[in-house]
Parts: sequence; C-alpha cells; structure tokens
Amino acid sequence: MADMPKTVGRYEIEREIGRGAMGVVYQGLDPEIGRPVAVKLIHLDLLGGSHRAEYLSRFRTEIQAAGRCQHPNIVATYDVGQHEGNPFFVMEFVVGSPLGQMLPSGGGGLGLAGAVNVILQLLDALGCAHDLGVIHRDIKPSNLLLTPLGRLKVMDFGISRLSDARATMTGMVLGTPMYMSPEQLRGGEVDARSDLFATGAVFHELLFGRPPFSAKSVEEAMVKLLYDELTLPPPTPEAPAPVLAVLAKALAKPPEARFPTAQTMAAALREALATPTANGATIAPPPQSTLAPLGDPALLETIERRLAERIGPMASILIRRARPGASSVGVLCERLAAEIDSAEERRHFLADVRGLISGKARPGSPGGPPSLPLDAAAITQIEAELARYMGPMAKVLVKRALPGATTVAELRERLAGNFEQPAERTAFLTHPPTVRPPS
Ligand SMILES: Nc1ncnc2c1ncn2[C@@H]1O[C@H](COP(=O)(O)OP(=O)(O)OP(=O)(O)O)[C@@H](O)[C@H]1O
Ligand SMILES: [Mg+2]
Repeated sequence: MADMPKTVGRYEIEREIGRGAMGVVYQGLDPEIGRPVAVKLIHLDLLGGSHRAEYLSRFRTEIQAAGRCQHPNIVATYDVGQHEGNPFFVMEFVVGSPLGQMLPSGGGGLGLAGAVNVILQLLDALGCAHDLGVIHRDIKPSNLLLTPLGRLKVMDFGISRLSDARATMTGMVLGTPMYMSPEQLRGGEVDARSDLFATGAVFHELLFGRPPFSAKSVEEAMVKLLYDELTLPPPTPEAPAPVLAVLAKALAKPPEARFPTAQTMAAALREALATPTANGATIAPPPQSTLAPLGDPALLETIERRLAERIGPMASILIRRARPGASSVGVLCERLAAEIDSAEERRHFLADVRGLISGKARPGSPGGPPSLPLDAAAITQIEAELARYMGPMAKVLVKRALPGATTVAELRERLAGNFEQPAERTAFLTHPPTVRPPS
C-alpha cells in the first residue's frame, strides 16, 4: 500500500498502529467531534470489476452488523467510507495491547485469575452479539485488545467473512486457523458455538501459553483441529479440574457437544470457580465490576430510580423489557441508556450507574476498572496530575480526550495514549482512585 495518507475521509491520520491480512489500521482524529479514532483502510488493489462491487456491498452489510453491537467490551464502530476507491471503517480508538502481546515471552499463561477475567468479558461481549444474530467468526488474540486496566475490547466482528470473500476472489491463502472450529475449517455452517470453540482455544492459550492444537504449519494445525483428540494437561491449582472440564466442553469437535450459548458457558465457568477443590479450598471468584450478574435487587431498584428521574414512570417497563438476555448489570444499563433520547442525559445516566456498579465491586479487586462518574472536580484533578508529566499541554490533551468519555477510568485510559514512557503511563493509570460510597 502507498505511503501513509494525511486524511482518510474527514479523519486526520496521525500514525500507523498495525497491519493485518486485509489492510492497515491508523490512529487518527475526528476533527468534527475532536475525538481519537482508529481507521482501518482495506486494500482492494487485487480486486477488479464485479468482484470489487460485490466486495463493497458485502463490506457495508458486515459493518452494519458490527455497528449494531453496542457493548462495553466491543470496540464501537463509528463510520464507513471510501478512500481512493478502497473501503475504510472508523472505530473507537482503544489504548491497549493485543492479547498475544500480554503473554509472558518465556512461555506460560496469564494465570487463572487473569485468564478468567478475560474470558468472562469475552463471553459477555459474545452473548450480546449472538443475541443480535451477529457471529464474530474470527475470535483470536490479535482481535482482542486488553486495556491497561484489564478491560477487554473485542474487534473485527464479522470482518473475517470479508477476508474469506477476498481470499476466494483472489485465490489468496487464509491466515492461521489455530482458533477456528472444525465446522468453520470445513467451510460448513457457522453459528454462536463456533465462536465458543474459538473462545475455548483462546482460554487454553491464556492458561497454558499455547493454543490447544498448535502446530508448525497451517496444514498440520488443520489436521489436528479436525481429527486429533484434545489432550489437556493434568489439573493444577492454576488449572483446576472443574475449569478444565469447561475448557474441554468448549473445545468439543461436534458443535452440539459444546455450550449452546455464551451465557451458559460463562455460568459454567463461574460455577467451576466456586467448586471446592480436592483440598476443600474454593477458587476466588473473578472481579466483577460491570460484569456483575443481575442478582442484586437493591442495585436494580437504584438503577430504576435513576432512570425514572430521566424518563419518568416508563423506567420500570423498560427495565422489564431490557432484562431478558442481559447477562450483566453493565449490559442491562447499556440497553437502558439506548432508550434515553438526549445524548447528554444518556451520558449522565451511564456515568451514574457505572459509579453505582463500581461502588458495589470489591475494593482493590484487580481487573475491574474503577468507573467513577466524570464530574468537574474529577476532571480538574486528572488535569492537574497530567500536568505533572506534560506541563501546560495537559489542558489541551484533556479537552481533546473528553468528548465521549463518561467515567474517570475512560478518561485516564484515553490520556494514557499520550505517554511515551511505559513507567509513567502505568503510574498515571494506577493513581489510587478515590472510591465514593454507593448512594
Ligand atoms: N480500534 C483499535 N484501537 C487500537 N488499536 C487497534 C484497533 N484496531 C486495530 N488495532 C491494532 O491494529 C493491529 C492490526 O489490526 P488488524 O485487524 O488489521 O490485524 P490482525 O487482527 O492482526 O489481522 P486480521 O487482518 O486477520 O484481522 C491490531 O493488532 C491492533 O493492535
Ligand atoms: Mg483484526
């Protein structure tokens, strides 16, 4: 592809973030809204005539499907367009690293708590997308970004269908199949259970440092995925037997032997963690924050009150309508927020409930981002902290990062992208937040 463009559509391009099979991802700025974005520009140089037209129409359909998925663990899709004949789409810019880079370089996994924290967030995101009829089709570490505060962001929903289409049109060979379900490898029907197989493969890698059917060549990996029996390492405290049973079920070759939905797999995993081990100890449950299940009536009541303040008595009807299928308080609140017409009111409602939810999370629990609402005092404090590193520039940077940020954690994560020194970035991100008691 040619040199880095200065603009793509109305977006100002700042730097290249990475390259994949289909094109390039840039960090950019939306000058109209003043927020950072990621722009994925797809190169269609090899496609001509009718293939190009067909591809562009598929592109629109897939991006529309991805755009329907609104969830805190799914990278938001903002816009689509064409640049010099090549399609591009614009997404939320995530400060974070692809999951593969988070694994220790000397081998090994993230440890049980780290792995479970990622997998439960992934299942929450998939549950939301599957409920909307959207299958990801390409769950793999490079499509999973982890923010410095341990929040997972899933990207490229449905996009692999486009690389498949382009590969067929140009005769290109597909990339690594290491996380693909057997039915997808065979080119068969793919549904939610296929994403759950891939989730199992990622879970395996997070626990043991390598995917379950790893091999030296693409061909060997395909044969193993299709025909080899799964062998898991013996149980250890970091991979106890009930957790291994969940892993084995996710990785079953026939789809009907797997979990039917992301929600059932998440429930089985939570149950496995609560099962006493041989020596009678139970495994600590993972951090919850916005992933808290919907079991707390007092929290629900408070959420209903906050919603009623904004939209009146409709609130209770909306909650009843939004509850089925909402796998966590976070998902429920996102759904409710979608019902509030005014963007500003919506932002305030979300900031409110996130504050409530994080107030419920265990203090000091790792992984769950502290999500205090973003008020004037919090903004002034963050600006003052940033000024210690960046001087008067801090004011400009905060102003630029503010649009769309609803919580202290979100604002910090956005600002963290400005640090060049990792140690300073970490210090800025881990500044002890002042936790307010839930009201
Ligand atoms: N919204 C985003 N915010 C921040 N970084 C991103 C974003 N989207 C992509 N990236 C970065 O760009 C890199 C390249 O992404 P891309 O999807 O093009 O490649 P890939 O996932 O490695 O391969 P594939 O083409 O199979 O999807 C990613 O690994 C990620 O680090
Ligand atoms: Mg990708």
